[in-house]
Amino acid sequence: MRRLRQQPWLRELVAEHRLTPSDLIWPLFVLPGSGQEEEVASLPGVYRRSIDGLLPQIEAALATGIRAIALFPVTPTELKTEDGREATNAKNLICTASQEIRRRFGDQLGIVCDVALDPYTTHGHDGLLRDGKIVNDATVEVLCQQAVIQAEAGASVIAPSDMMDGRVGAIRRTLDETGHQDVVIMSYAAKYASAFYGPFRDAVGSKSQLGGGDKKTYQMQPSASDEALHEVALDLSEGADIVMVKPGMPYLDIIRRVKSEFAVPTAAYQVSGEYAMLAAAAQNGWLDRQACMLESLLAFRRAGADMILTYFALEAARCL
Ligand code: PBG
Repeated sequence: MRRLRQQPWLRELVAEHRLTPSDLIWPLFVLPGSGQEEEVASLPGVYRRSIDGLLPQIEAALATGIRAIALFPVTPTELKTEDGREATNAKNLICTASQEIRRRFGDQLGIVCDVALDPYTTHGHDGLLRDGKIVNDATVEVLCQQAVIQAEAGASVIAPSDMMDGRVGAIRRTLDETGHQDVVIMSYAAKYASAFYGPFRDAVGSKSQLGGGDKKTYQMQPSASDEALHEVALDLSEGADIVMVKPGMPYLDIIRRVKSEFAVPTAAYQVSGEYAMLAAAAQNGWLDRQACMLESLLAFRRAGADMILTYFALEAARCL
């Protein structure tokens, strides 16, 4: 076996998997206002920026070969309500940001918009809360409205991350009826109730809202494997174009099963906690940041992911 490992050129020739900038989707946190920039304490090297500050970042990403971004709005507390109605305000932050980004970059950039209520609710849940329970179908109606205003604001990809049942089908129908047949749906199909989302909830300010609460009545439990295939099958039958597994590295087995079983475009999300672990170990001098970053991203490709959402996107693309 060692004959083929002798030289870099030979190792490159026999490489089974590759990572390229165009495999990466860069998640970006959007702040209201202008001239705003804050580093996320639990995600060193990741910034929340107002739209004016994001535009040059996106320009830099495009120059490296990254072709898509995912937007996550940081909603001011005073706009959060029990029913999260800011989610369906066509002039809200995510819509304004997509409009401006679309105006600036046209069709050369994919804009992925998250559909879920957690940035907008006082309780921090992805759905509507009634009598202590997250209600499914009433939430789905709101998610459909959210998807339409995002599509109207220039989103190329609608990414429901809420894990309500039947939302992909409902969103697809609504988008089609409102003239958005071409808008892609990337469903967070196998999304686990994971403790690795902590730093993201800090970044968008939903952790304090959620208090000690969790999302276990709608996100999957970490012991599930067959159930992930069931979730993916349902989302595909409802019209998902791309399915996602989330988190990433602790769930590489799920990515592989999904890819082998369905052979459809599959995304992996290297979530905030995964980034935080690598960043913290590198800061301590315990891990080589660049080498571990690239190895972790290549592992997603080997596991079967066609595309990877990662906070390392710009840095990784620059190395590549
Ligand atoms: C919210 C959403 C979450 C993430 C993406 N969309 C958090 C959650 O479900 O609580 C997590 C991303 C990350 O941790 O990087 N619907």
